[in-house]
Amino acid sequence: SDRPRALSGIQPTAGSFHLGNYLGAVRQYVALQESHDAFYMVVDLHAITVPQDPAELRANTRLAAAQLLAAGLDPDRCTLFIQSHVPEHAQLGWVMNCLTGFGEASRMTQFKDKSAKQGADRATVGLFTYPILQVADILLYQANEVPVGEDQRQHIELTRDLAERFNGRFGDTFTVPKPYIVKETGKIYDLQDPTIKMSKSASTPKGLINLLDEPKVTAKKVKSAVTDTDTVIRFDPENKAGVSNLLTILSTLSGTSIADLEKSYEGKMYGALKTDLAEVMVDFVTPFRARTQEYLDDPETLDSILAKGAEKARAVAAETLAQTYDRMGF
Ligand code: ADP
Ligand code: NA
Repeated sequence: SDRPRALSGIQPTAGSFHLGNYLGAVRQYVALQESHDAFYMVVDLHAITVPQDPAELRANTRLAAAQLLAAGLDPDRCTLFIQSHVPEHAQLGWVMNCLTGFGEASRMTQFKDKSAKQGADRATVGLFTYPILQVADILLYQANEVPVGEDQRQHIELTRDLAERFNGRFGDTFTVPKPYIVKETGKIYDLQDPTIKMSKSASTPKGLINLLDEPKVTAKKVKSAVTDTDTVIRFDPENKAGVSNLLTILSTLSGTSIADLEKSYEGKMYGALKTDLAEVMVDFVTPFRARTQEYLDDPETLDSILAKGAEKARAVAAETLAQTYDRMGF
């Protein structure tokens, strides 16, 4: 294929995807199928950076794949697979570990955030080096673009640095990738605390929109979103973080520009915005839940999609790894 390559991954840990995952990342996965030779994976090796129950991990990994398909990934238009089915990830991961400075790894803010949450002594070395495994994930596929949320920008920078370092030392081997971050939706905020990003680890249940929640639970969360004591519906992230977040979500899901939304809410109260957003959210999650369930109810189809995906992914990954090993003297 002469299309540029896209590669991205999502963790299976939380069960349900949340709205930040969808708007920040998965929505772009779906769009890039049309323009790119796209590889998407469920990153189960990343999940074990924190303790996992094996049966739950297996179930959540399938659930994540089912949700990616429900969101619109088409196995005829992209390669969808499970990270652990392709052993080259761990193999190139080791190579990249040996190319990364300890200080360089120590500067990754995601590790600082995530380990602080667990208590620094309980964090694993795997959690510390997971950005380096992510480097290998991307470089194995010679990806040009990596669709992610804003929180991943630093890891893509690390990927670029390591690709250039390897190429400089051993000869041109890896494509140097770029992040593909949509400005408007690169950071979706918590509905209860719009100063922090919506996330499975930091959000309270009320601030986190899980796509697999009962639709009426979702509607309730939207209606109790934190706004401000003003009444004007205006996009102003600095002074009106809550309202601006709701406008971003509504604009993206409805396809109406923020400017048009602002016009249509002139003279109206926050309740009107929340009621409309609740309705749009319910219309979005209802078929999403149903499609996810359909894939879970048909394990043979899901297994076959993932087996074919792993085979296609492996062909590319094995070629990159062989070349890498050769250049390094193995
Ligand atoms: P989480 O960040 O909740 O732990 P993942 O690490 O699996 O979830 O993230 C999957 C993708 O979703 C990544 O590309 C990440 O950047 C994106 N993402 C996560 N939270 C948000 C958010 N609040 N807004 C935008 N994108 C997000
Ligand atoms: Na993340």
